[in-house]
Amino acid sequence: MEQFTIVESAHVVPQRVVTNDELATFMDTSDDWIYPRTGIHQRHVVNDENTSDLATSVANELLAKSGITADQLDFIIVGTMSPDNLTPSVAQQVQGNIKANNAFAWDLSAACSGFVYTISMASALLATKYQRGLVIGAEVLSKLVDWQDRSTAVLFGDGAAGVLLEKTSAQVGLLAESLKTYGEQSEFLTAGHQRNSNYFTGELSQADPYFHMNGREVYNFATRQVPVVLSEALDKANLTADSIDVYLLHQANARIIASIAKRFGQPIEKFPINVANYGNTSAASIGILLDELRIEGVVHDGQRIALAGFGGGLTAGALIIQL
Ligand code: ACO
Repeated sequence: MEQFTIVESAHVVPQRVVTNDELATFMDTSDDWIYPRTGIHQRHVVNDENTSDLATSVANELLAKSGITADQLDFIIVGTMSPDNLTPSVAQQVQGNIKANNAFAWDLSAACSGFVYTISMASALLATKYQRGLVIGAEVLSKLVDWQDRSTAVLFGDGAAGVLLEKTSAQVGLLAESLKTYGEQSEFLTAGHQRNSNYFTGELSQADPYFHMNGREVYNFATRQVPVVLSEALDKANLTADSIDVYLLHQANARIIASIAKRFGQPIEKFPINVANYGNTSAASIGILLDELRIEGVVHDGQRIALAGFGGGLTAGALIIQL
């Protein structure tokens, strides 16, 4: 076991809400199409904030809630597929904004598996000489959405969430994990293509910021692979599916989660879903759900939980955590 405790959790979403009905005023879609297929009613969308603004708000909230000062942090990792810049990274902007002068900081790009991958990396760091760090998933996906493309525009939302993790001597932390990458299937979900301008050949490629997705392939990937990574992680921990109190899955689509619960032979009640309010917030989604459930008391110390992410890359990953 890699021993750490979740000292605090936090999430922020932009104030502006865009409902399915509002989308239907400017694209050929409807709540009747979107909700039954995805479970999404609305999403939050930024006005002028960028990803680092949302991530910094989460970091400040984590420090305020925990009473830990910024200079006590050893590292900051931000999972994001929608950074403000190629450099500096969002994590480096957060480190500067909160003046975490003793922390090193970097981003991890694993799309909707971002939260799971970042917690895994943080857990490994805490098993070495580091004492505590912030793990944040933050996305402004609205800047990657082509608002004329109904096949992707209805799915995504903006938001950020994070946890403050600390090394502990208690028997809590990461029991086991299974992280997988399927780069050969990367074309099924892409966004943020960079323009390649070669000064020497004069060849200029077109930049294409927008999401492109084969929805059916991603759907099939998620429903097949998430049970695989969950099973592998449970096997490594020598645990059964029944022994998990709550399954926190990436919130892309309520139908995907229901299908995974069924394939996994577990009651849907153990798979909380909040995608109706936020849409798919990629690396932020599991963190938003975790914070909401901690506030409600549904997730609490003493439980054994599973986190599972899936998405762009393609990537998938599961963590079994003793709280
Ligand atoms: N409103 C109305 N009609 C629509 C919309 C819309 N928003 N989008 C597509 N349609 C139409 C299509 O044009 C198509 O019409 P046609 O049959 O006349 O051609 C019809 O609806 C069916 O389209 P499909 O794409 O086949 O619909 P499907 O049943 O596959 O559902 C969906 C689409 C909801 C996107 C599903 O494939 C899905 O959930 N996939 C997973 C996507 C996902 O979660 N991606 C994120 C991964 S996480 C990450 O890393 C970012």
